Amino acid sequence: MKIGILTSGGDCPGLNAVIRAAVLTGDKLYEDEFIGYRDGWRGVIDDDWMTLPRRRIRGLSRVGGTILGTSRSNPFHDGEDGAAMVRRQMEEHEIDAIIAIGGDGTLYTANRLFEAGIPVVGVPKTVDNDLGATDYTFGFDTAVQIATDSLDRLRITGDSHHRCMVAEVMGRSVGWIALHSGMAAGAHVICIPEFPLTIDEICEQVRSAYDRGRAPLVVVAEGFVPKDAPEGFMDYELDEFGRPRFGGVAEALAPVIEQRTGVESRATVLGHIQRGGEPSAYDRVLATRLGSAAVRLVHRRDFGRMVALEGTDIVDVPLTDAIGNPKKVSEARWEEALTLFG
Ligand code: F6P
Repeated sequence: MKIGILTSGGDCPGLNAVIRAAVLTGDKLYEDEFIGYRDGWRGVIDDDWMTLPRRRIRGLSRVGGTILGTSRSNPFHDGEDGAAMVRRQMEEHEIDAIIAIGGDGTLYTANRLFEAGIPVVGVPKTVDNDLGATDYTFGFDTAVQIATDSLDRLRITGDSHHRCMVAEVMGRSVGWIALHSGMAAGAHVICIPEFPLTIDEICEQVRSAYDRGRAPLVVVAEGFVPKDAPEGFMDYELDEFGRPRFGGVAEALAPVIEQRTGVESRATVLGHIQRGGEPSAYDRVLATRLGSAAVRLVHRRDFGRMVALEGTDIVDVPLTDAIGNPKKVSEARWEEALTLFG
């Protein structure tokens, strides 16, 4: 078969490991030929691609980012007939199937294409770990490790100055990175969008940690808004999909904490640092297994589906199970964390 592969949406450690595993599996088991579209759907729209012979994917599993590039382009943008355009591109180059590696937006587009008769399978990715229908996404483990390393460093400088350190991590509208890195680093308060604390509740924990002689560490997910936030507390610009472009809630919180508790406070926004660098061993293995499974799915002609992690098994599920179904932090996980605060 001739298979087109693309990476779309925000980049994420492990994308190259998926590409490598797909090409290796296709080459060894089925004598497939691969092309890689550059910058996600943009490469399909603009007919911009590269061949992916086996020699091109050598040593890639440990390399961060994506050799194909990525973008948030969407073939259905502005009412375009995306399916007709993708079909034309595939016919012209005799592509039998597309493997789309991406998050919610990418998989939504993949499903629209599938419904229009295009043979496509999905591979879930996101550092946020917020996709439904898969237990974990690759990229998340690496992001949590990077965040934890950074929080450990912040604790050291915080301890020296007896300051409260407020650290903001990624996650859009879910608190997975905040919860895991905050637990790992022994944060005194973790603020996540699913269970918003009030400013008073945050300050109470900061004060309690400080009074015990600790330099309080507050970990805040970028999409968090305090329950009692005054109107206009955070005012985000929207991206091209109408979603808020987060960033800066730690900078808004730190001065309020300082003012209410009297504890000198500093804010750090970790931002895109969390998406760069080499994937962790866990993410390399998960991404590799998903990449291989995606090729097997193509050969079973099980289109409109996505490979996923269930427990320790790789399974496949309809794309529709993954989209518009964000995986949020559960109440049980939140309760667990709450006992560690203060
Ligand atoms: O969805 C992944 C993510 O890293 C979010 O955590 C973050 O809000 C967003 O992407 C940032 O997007 P961009 O790279 O377009 O600024």
